[in-house]
Amino acid sequence: MGKLSRNDLCWCGSGKKYKNCHLKQDEKLSIMEMEGLIAPPREIIKTPEQIEGIRKSSQVTKKVLDMVAERIKEGITTDEINTWVHEYTLELGAIPAPLNYMGYPKSVCISINEVVCHGIPSDRVLKNGDIVNVDVTSILDGYYGDASRMFIIGEGSEEAKKLVRIAKECLYIGIEQVKPFATIGDIGFAIQKHAESNGYSVVREYGGHGIGVNFHEEPFVDHCGHRTTGMILVPGMTFTIEPMINEGIYRCKILDDGWTAITADSKRSAQWEHTILVTEDGVEILTD
Ligand code: MF3
Ligand code: CO
Ligand code: CO
Repeated sequence: MGKLSRNDLCWCGSGKKYKNCHLKQDEKLSIMEMEGLIAPPREIIKTPEQIEGIRKSSQVTKKVLDMVAERIKEGITTDEINTWVHEYTLELGAIPAPLNYMGYPKSVCISINEVVCHGIPSDRVLKNGDIVNVDVTSILDGYYGDASRMFIIGEGSEEAKKLVRIAKECLYIGIEQVKPFATIGDIGFAIQKHAESNGYSVVREYGGHGIGVNFHEEPFVDHCGHRTTGMILVPGMTFTIEPMINEGIYRCKILDDGWTAITADSKRSAQWEHTILVTEDGVEILTD
């Protein structure tokens, strides 16, 4: 930064002069950096072409989740859902990102009750009252879109329904914070406040993440924190918000399969996730 002159071409590849493109934003970021905030690295700010690709792949993810929503019910196994997700993703011309990612063995993550995240599909049968997170990530033309939803199987208890509802509210309250020059800390602060004021805890060990040309990119999106801290948001950033909200303590442990994270106290956990884009005037939910 600081090397470009006003009349040079902008670093973003728009073909415009710097003074007519990102100069004002960079000046504002420099001032905010002096106040202790973190400017986003330029590599994570997407071009219009990348954004279009991420938008399309996010729409594949949304369609896959819509399909799951129509079919999920008591008595099916999580392996069956894995097959639906795998086959429908391919039908839509995409690839399920989880399969073989860092050795992950299946095409989707399915996390039931006390499972916080990264549950591996198996012959486990869904039963009445289970709360189930289905987390889908698709790769279309090299671009990633990541989202998850909760499903309540049959009749959920009042406690289960409240947890699922508050976890969803936490996601949307987090999304509401997103606009240019807000911070990652603003998102975490708002989510933590809503969860804790309802008697729940927020998982620390896992968070949202930059996404788009890779599955997991900068920044780490903490679902806890303090206002006006951490990385500054600017237009063209794409990341997930995916708060994991626990009935009991926030601590997790990982099972011997190396993936499945469960709550340390075996109480329930719920999670909703969207991939979002920071726009000039706020936010676009790409997986909506
Ligand atoms: N979709 C998960 C997330 O929201 C990541 C799953 S990684 C996998 O970040 F390998 F378990 F699939
Ligand atoms: Co996900
Ligand atoms: Co994610």
